[in-house]
Amino acid sequence: MASTLRERQARSPLPLLEFHLLWQQVLGVSRAWLIAHDTDPLDGAQCARYDRLEARRVAGEPMAYLLGRREFLGRDFEVTSDVLIPRPETELLVECGLAAVAEVPAPRVLDLGTGSGIVAVSMALERPDARVQAIDDSEAALAVARMNAHALGAKLLFSLGNWYDSSLGFSEFDVIVSNPPYIRADDAHLSSGDLRFEPQGALTDGADGLSALREIVQGAPSRLACAGALCVEHGFDQAPAVRDLFRTQGFENITSLRDLAGIERVTWGRLPA
Ligand SMILES: C[S@@+](CC[C@H](N)C(=O)[O-])C[C@H]1O[C@@H](n2cnc3c(N)ncnc32)[C@H](O)[C@@H]1O
Repeated sequence: MASTLRERQARSPLPLLEFHLLWQQVLGVSRAWLIAHDTDPLDGAQCARYDRLEARRVAGEPMAYLLGRREFLGRDFEVTSDVLIPRPETELLVECGLAAVAEVPAPRVLDLGTGSGIVAVSMALERPDARVQAIDDSEAALAVARMNAHALGAKLLFSLGNWYDSSLGFSEFDVIVSNPPYIRADDAHLSSGDLRFEPQGALTDGADGLSALREIVQGAPSRLACAGALCVEHGFDQAPAVRDLFRTQGFENITSLRDLAGIERVTWGRLPA
């Protein structure tokens, strides 16, 4: 006898929202449709597809990878296991980058470590006059970022490379934004929860957590225009160290921004005019 959503829900180990999201993915329907049709018979192929997704979820795989997408700043971005799952705190980085060039016409924007492209694509869409370049050292991540830019109608330049060693589209930029890997190599979180499934090269610098940030801050002054700005995301306890890095490189008006939990997660500063 064919089973129904109502029967399957009664024996599913997943919370109701996840159960619904996976079924929406399998059937390509809205949540309202699922609720209205929960006694319809399900076909065997659909059940088999759902069972595979449920087993992956039970094994701990993040919902974003199972669904293949995650919302960021009101837009749906494709994500695969080649890219970091977009985090809400990264919205602060985009807002910071946009504010830094609010008065600059046709700003030149550089996003270092673009991953799924959320930062670069969001900035390009919010500022259609901006000329945005996005860099990553992962070819697979760049493929996802290109797909997102195409799907969302953003025009930008993507380059494969190691931070500033990439071929840069401009000799100087008005703002550099970056959410680099900043988790210490010995942080136990790397082997627990969602982080187990994300690319390690997107999460950790393989060292003290500050080595990528150091490289990015040190290299910024020679790639920024006069009064150019640098905005970086960092770990919950790294703001004082990052502000020191900015100070050493001659940045002014150095400020750390707090996320919704009140934690300093983004630091930015400007070069003298
Ligand atoms: C924390 S993820 C950020 C991804 C995306 N910007 C976001 O905010 O979701 C860091 C990204 O930096 C890239 N990356 C790591 N080392 C790099 C390097 N040396 N040069 C360029 N990109 C690098 C990783 O591949 C990864 O996509």
